[in-house]
Amino acid sequence: MGPGRTLFFPERHCPVNLLGRSLLFPCEALPYGISYAYLNFLIRSPQPLDEERAWREITGSVPPVIGFVRDHWPLRPLRWWLLQAKLRQDHLLGISAHYDVSNEFYELFLDKKYMFYTCADFKRSDDTLEQAQQHKADHILGLIDPKPGEKILELGCGWGAMLKRIYEHTGDKENLSGITLSQEQVKFNKERNGFQVEFDNFITRQYQPQAYDVIYSIGAWEHVRPHEIAPLAKKVFDALKPGGRAVHHYFCRVTPELFATAICSQLYFPGSIGSAYVDNMKAFEGAGFRITARSIHDYRPTLRAWFDNLVANRKRALELVDVQTYNRYITFFAASWKYFDEGRGMLVRWVMQKPA
Ligand SMILES: C[S@@+](CC[C@H](N)C(=O)[O-])C[C@H]1O[C@@H](n2cnc3c(N)ncnc32)[C@H](O)[C@@H]1O
Repeated sequence: MGPGRTLFFPERHCPVNLLGRSLLFPCEALPYGISYAYLNFLIRSPQPLDEERAWREITGSVPPVIGFVRDHWPLRPLRWWLLQAKLRQDHLLGISAHYDVSNEFYELFLDKKYMFYTCADFKRSDDTLEQAQQHKADHILGLIDPKPGEKILELGCGWGAMLKRIYEHTGDKENLSGITLSQEQVKFNKERNGFQVEFDNFITRQYQPQAYDVIYSIGAWEHVRPHEIAPLAKKVFDALKPGGRAVHHYFCRVTPELFATAICSQLYFPGSIGSAYVDNMKAFEGAGFRITARSIHDYRPTLRAWFDNLVANRKRALELVDVQTYNRYITFFAASWKYFDEGRGMLVRWVMQKPA
């Protein structure tokens, strides 16, 4: 096993026939809970899933007694113990397992212009994903309010979507940079966009004090573990010039309660766990920031749009990735939709000001 790697929640999923999966179900439900065992049952199918059926089953309602067991088993101490073991593992293992799948695979379902892998703003029910991501990019651009010559850094820049929008606006590439822990994304940004994107861990990185006018992150803070939030908020604060601003788009748990279903996140983001809204607020305010703007956004239409795009491109997807990876993303979009639909998660956007 590699650095800090644990036996729990392996990064890879092997195909298993129906009998094997049926036997594995109780073995996994006992330590990890029924949601985890059920999603893994689907992911391990040697055939691509019947997508609509999987969507219906994952997003549908369950009888109250099943819902209770789903939320409370494994009991809190066991839940924490399992997760803590996983949260000691090197971030790189989990990030690489999720993002270094294949750039072309992601191109099959993300919006064509920017390739945002984060919640879009659907203003009307008939907005396309492209339009909705444009709305989001424009909204965040307004929050960042970038000016040519300003030093701007994105933490967790993905395929360079927001860097692209900022560059369209300022025409300044020199002062714009990003960080990612995905080698595939570094390659993509270099070859396609020519952006300065560094392969590094933005959590452990040492930042130069007062080096940036703006530091922002879109959908990357979800990978920051609860105990890392306050120290990282302080690092971001210190790396900003006086009067600098941070823009922060991320989803978090509405309440501090960590239900057993949170264990399912290890199927998709091994080594990451969502944090509570209140803990983020305390961390940023504790670091010295003043939160000057907040908004809440609905992730569900984006998740359904990615799901539809992936299903529409199933043939090509299965040429690029194995069946279990395909199944994993199909269940990921549906399970995440359910998480937001039940009001457990909340997507927020903040602007934070460092005093001048
Ligand atoms: C959901 S993607 C969002 C990408 C992009 N911001 C967007 O809006 O499309 C999360 C990004 O955060 C990066 N990331 C997560 N944890 C990281 C870490 N500790 N250090 C560097 N990058 C990280 C991932 O590599 C990925 O690029």
